[in-house]
Amino acid sequence: MVDYQVTTSPSIKDIIGKWEILTFPNLRKKAQKHQLKEPLISVLAIKEKQLVGLLLVEAKPEHQAATIISFLVIPPERNKGIGTHLLQLLDRGLLEKGYNRVDVVYQSNWKSRKALEKLLKSQGWKDPQQRMILSYAHCENYSQAPWINYDQLPQPYKLFVWSQITAEERLQIQEKQNTGWYPPELDPFQESDKLMEDLSVGLKHKGEVIGWNMTHKISPDTLQRTCFFLDSNHRLHNLALALSSRIIKLQMETDIPKAMFQISTTNQHMMAYFDRYLKDYQDTITEVFWATKKIA
Ligand SMILES: CC(C)(COP(=O)(O)OP(=O)(O)OC[C@H]1O[C@@H](n2cnc3c(N)ncnc32)[C@H](O)[C@@H]1OP(=O)(O)O)[C@@H](O)C(=O)NCCC(=O)NCCS
Repeated sequence: MVDYQVTTSPSIKDIIGKWEILTFPNLRKKAQKHQLKEPLISVLAIKEKQLVGLLLVEAKPEHQAATIISFLVIPPERNKGIGTHLLQLLDRGLLEKGYNRVDVVYQSNWKSRKALEKLLKSQGWKDPQQRMILSYAHCENYSQAPWINYDQLPQPYKLFVWSQITAEERLQIQEKQNTGWYPPELDPFQESDKLMEDLSVGLKHKGEVIGWNMTHKISPDTLQRTCFFLDSNHRLHNLALALSSRIIKLQMETDIPKAMFQISTTNQHMMAYFDRYLKDYQDTITEVFWATKKIA
C-alpha cells in the first residue's frame, strides 16, 4: 500500500540532506546552477514508511504556474502507477492553491524519456516542443574540418584574443548596446567570473569590434562557447568560421579537451550554421524538450 502526500517542502538544503538520492535531475547540481525559489512544493509516495517516489515543483505564483524540477520513483517501484499518482496529486494540489499551469523541461538522453513522455500524454499534457540542443565535442575532433585554417582573414577584418580588448573598445560596445545592438543573452561581459578571456575571440572591421565568440569554463575539462555574435552587416559564413576556427585552435593549445554549446532551436541562423559546419564533429548532441499542461 502506497500513501501519498502533497506538502510544502522543507528547505532545499534539507531536501538535499535527506533525499538527494531521490532527486532527478540531481537537485544539488540544479541548485548550484540556478537560484530556485523556495519553498518548493513536494508530492511524496511512501511505502512501508520509506519514501519511494518524490516529485518537486518550483512555484511561480506571479504567473499562477509551476515547474517540475525533480521527479523520481525508485527503480523497484517503477511501472506500478506511482508516477501517474504523483502527477495527478500534483494537479489537484496546484489547482487548490490557485495555479493553472504546470510545465517540465527534459532531455532526449534521459533513460526514462519514453516512460515520462507516455506518462505526460496519459495525463493530458500538450505535445512536447523541442527548445534547444546541447552539444559536446572534443576539440581535437575539429582537426580534420576543412575550415579549421580559415582564421587568416583579409583586411579590413582582424581577429583578436579577447584579453587584448581595450577599455575604450569596451566602452564603444556598451555605447552601441544602448541602441539594442545585440540581444542581451549575447552580452560579451556576462558571467565574468567564469570568462576565459585568453580563450575568447573578437572580430574587428576597420579597427571597430563587430563580433565575438566567448568562452566560459564550466568544469575542469569542459569549456562552454557562449555569445556567438556578428554585427548584422557582417553575417558572412567565412567570418563566423574564422571565429570558430580561431577559438578551437586556442583551446587546442590548452589541456582542456572538451567544449560544449547550447543553441535555441528558434535561432534558425545558428541552427543552420551548426548543421552545416559543426554537427559532424560533435561527440553528443542532446535535445532539450519543454512540455506544459493547463490545469483545470
Ligand atoms: C519517470 C518516472 C518518474 C515514472 O514513474 P513510474 O512510477 O514508473 O510511472 P508509472 O508507472 O505511473 O507510468 C510509467 C509508464 O511508462 C511506461 N513505460 C515504462 N518504460 C517505458 C518505455 N521504455 N517506453 C515506453 N513506455 C514505457 C509504463 O508502461 C507506464 O505506462 P502505463 O501506465 O500505460 O503502462 C520513473 O520512470 C523515474 O523515476 N525515472 C527516472 C527519473 C526520471 O527520468 N525522471 C523524469 C524527470 S522530469
